Amino acid sequence: MTLQHATPIETPELEIQNPTSEARNSQSATQNLSLDVRELHFSYPDGHVALRGVSLQIDRGEKVALVGPNGAGKSTLMLQLNGILTGKGRMSIGGLPVVKENLPQIRARVGLVFQNPDDQLFSPTVFEDVAFGPLHIGYSEAEVRERVMRALDLVGMSAYAERLSHHLSVGEKKRIAVATVLAMDPEILVLDEPSAGLDPRARRSLINLLRELPHTMLVSTHDLLMVRELFTRMVVMDNGQVVADGPTATLLNDDALLEAHGLERV
Ligand SMILES: Nc1ncnc2c1ncn2[C@@H]1O[C@H](COP(=O)(O)OP(=O)(O)OP(=O)(O)O)[C@@H](O)[C@H]1O
Ligand SMILES: [Mg+2]
Repeated sequence: MTLQHATPIETPELEIQNPTSEARNSQSATQNLSLDVRELHFSYPDGHVALRGVSLQIDRGEKVALVGPNGAGKSTLMLQLNGILTGKGRMSIGGLPVVKENLPQIRARVGLVFQNPDDQLFSPTVFEDVAFGPLHIGYSEAEVRERVMRALDLVGMSAYAERLSHHLSVGEKKRIAVATVLAMDPEILVLDEPSAGLDPRARRSLINLLRELPHTMLVSTHDLLMVRELFTRMVVMDNGQVVADGPTATLLNDDALLEAHGLERV
């Protein structure tokens, strides 16, 4: 069981279809991709269509920002990447198809930080929250302790190990949520608005941390200054679709694009 598996988010019936042999063959041609999403469609149980044919490829080591207005479908897309929500389409992580039988491996590969940290933190103490994933993978007690302390150190929260998770401020919880995935050392970090609610110093430390981490990253955010500073590639979503995908420097200078999708020039 993984961290994501045990969150209070509802997991609807899995509907992932087994890839056809043609799909499997095309997977082998894209082994170098860390993330490969093709024509993903998803509707919530109430019938709301949230993803309308999203395709996105991310190379190993690439850091990509995901932006777009409220309700664009950014969080919905992220929740698909480790099978918490399941739409129709094809998806793979490091060449491994996201299908029901692969979910334990997929969840070890995808370090997903939820938009709302209360969906991620459920143990009494910060230490236990960060230790949860490594413990369930079966690391020794010493290894777990080392991973927890290293992850807390990376987010500047070493002093918080024995604090009660549910008593922390939103910004503190956010940083602990990032630590819970860093402790797992995943292949790809999928961070949903990691800088939201952080004070300027914590935001600056987060930016520095994300810059230094070698992981492949997909980071959703409304913080366009962070995007301009940190990400050379930017994907814009609106109304359940990818409406632009390209160099950040180009897209952030495209006034018509910014205007059409509710983004501000920074
Ligand atoms: N559980 C749900 N049931 C029905 N509709 C939902 C549910 N969760 C989200 N939606 C809808 O799906 C659409 C996409 O929502 P999503 O949370 O993915 O947007 P987002 O791009 O992450 O927005 P934000 O910037 O506000 O975080 C929205 O219209 C939202 O109202
Ligand atoms: Mg969201």
